[in-house]
Amino acid sequence: MYKEDLLIEARDVWRSYTRGSETIHALAGMNLTLGRGEMIGIVGRSGSGKTTFLNQVGCLDKPTSGTLKIVGRDVTKLSENELVEFRRDHIGFIFQLFYLIPTLTVKENVEMPLIFARKRDPDKVMDMIKKVELEKNANALPGQLNGGDMQRVAIARALINDPQILLADEPTGRLEHKSRDSIVELFRRFQSEGLGIIIATHDLGLAQMTDRVIELKDGCVIDREESYVFAEVE
Ligand SMILES: Nc1ncnc2c1ncn2[C@@H]1O[C@H](COP(=O)(O)OP(=O)(O)OP(=O)(O)O)[C@@H](O)[C@H]1O
Ligand SMILES: [Mg+2]
Repeated sequence: MYKEDLLIEARDVWRSYTRGSETIHALAGMNLTLGRGEMIGIVGRSGSGKTTFLNQVGCLDKPTSGTLKIVGRDVTKLSENELVEFRRDHIGFIFQLFYLIPTLTVKENVEMPLIFARKRDPDKVMDMIKKVELEKNANALPGQLNGGDMQRVAIARALINDPQILLADEPTGRLEHKSRDSIVELFRRFQSEGLGIIIATHDLGLAQMTDRVIELKDGCVIDREESYVFAEVE
């Protein structure tokens, strides 16, 4: 892989919390690389560190130690202000609970990040809405949509600033299988344009639709032989 195609390089990443006299290692030597146009699924039992890892990669939190390079930048060296800007320019997030603004229309929700970045662009917003196939609902309020369409709005909003990386924490946890599959279909469309995607999920079926599945246990990647998640279905 060429260096510029490497979107995420995490080496021996630790994130430890102290609570009184106790230390919890939410991440304990996490390693992962993500290439341009690659989609990875992260599985693991509750508390294995999936969300903590996405938060490090998404620059919402800083590792206690280790190397973390995002699009070639060592993000552990960035200040809080630099991280805000870096996150806005390079990372998109989506979550199980969508987090749309209920009083704004679909179009206005998608437009929000552009307004924050002072890059208002109505044509770009409409192009994105078409891409996620919501043009009929552009002026609807989120509450008028089904779950799958709400997640489409969240995806459009996450990608409107053209990030190279999309992080999805249990993106289809609230959706039925049909909507889940159509969300993956949509991911593939963006993936083919070079977007790197990480999906953290309890849904092994969803994870297996990605290019590569990794399993976390106690904050680091484990081999298939040690697997809990696969053992449960086999
Ligand atoms: N702010 C915090 N302070 C202390 N401990 C934390 C904090 N955030 C996470 N942890 C701990 O870190 C570990 C990993 O949590 P994390 O939320 O990353 O797991 P997860 O794999 O996302 O779980 P789930 O599948 O339930 O979403 C857990 O033991 C959790 O209790
Ligand atoms: Mg989680």
